[in-house]
Amino acid sequence: MAYTLVTRRLLPGSLDPLSHYELKVNDSDRPLSHDQLLEQVQGANALICLPGDLVDAEVIEAGTTLSVIATVSVGFDHIDLSAASRSGIPVCHTPDVLDEATADLAFGLIIAAARRMGEAERDLRSLSWQGWAVDQYLGLELNGATLGIVGFGRIGKAVARRALGFGMQVIHHSRHPSGEAGYFPDLDQMLSISDVVSLHVPLTEETRHLIDARRLALMKDTAVLVNTSRGAVVDEEALADALTEGRIFAAGIDVYEQEPSVHPKLLSAPRAVLLPHIGSATTATRTAMASRAVADVKAVLEGRRPIYLLNPEVFAGGGS
Ligand code: DGY
Repeated sequence: MAYTLVTRRLLPGSLDPLSHYELKVNDSDRPLSHDQLLEQVQGANALICLPGDLVDAEVIEAGTTLSVIATVSVGFDHIDLSAASRSGIPVCHTPDVLDEATADLAFGLIIAAARRMGEAERDLRSLSWQGWAVDQYLGLELNGATLGIVGFGRIGKAVARRALGFGMQVIHHSRHPSGEAGYFPDLDQMLSISDVVSLHVPLTEETRHLIDARRLALMKDTAVLVNTSRGAVVDEEALADALTEGRIFAAGIDVYEQEPSVHPKLLSAPRAVLLPHIGSATTATRTAMASRAVADVKAVLEGRRPIYLLNPEVFAGGGS
């Protein structure tokens, strides 16, 4: 009997709407290997996956009985969307519901990196703090500083709202003119005048290493870079070099090029606050994300059109 394959443990109750369907859940919470995914997708009529599951053309071609793929994430760079479309498989994701949680985390990283909280806490825990001193852990004052937001979608805008509350000047760059005050058509120019840069673009071929050695060199040596989007938007090694050589002041990073690995140079770079991809990690948000993915899978299994569909062309020609 065909089943819905769920590649990782979800929060309790998330799969309840699918209780009348056959489920095969990897409850171990260790990601399936690519070989396991290839094997288990055979015979599945739906796939619920997460970032970190590589749903490439090989997996999609092995899933000959698949009628839907839903990722419990807004980002879908781990799924070969073209291969899914070629096979006529709808792919769904979970936009909107994680905007505020991710913006909170991005802003947390802005503060933590600007105020050197990571190194200060490490020193305190390792008992190397010698007591208060006037020139200790001096950081960047956010009030009056300029925040350059790269990617002005929902999450970028949510970060902008927070920044205004902190007295920051907010400017932004996006691929298409936003029509809003503070828009910079030229990314390089925006980078060169920003005190803090926060990245909110999806990972695509155009945005891979968008922040590379050349662009890092354009930034002020007092600047802070924050990345909560996708690791590969930044050249991790170039960032580590820029931090080590003092060419930028600090960084706050939640996402990495080869998760769960982190570039060793970044691990030892000064003034880097490093978090393990927890942008959307609140109970409310993770519950809402799963609920969105599960509802879309249920819709397809019941012959309805899913809501958060990434490749609507698979329904062209009269799908319900
Ligand atoms: C997403 O939804 O793409 C996030 O990175 C997961 O937290």
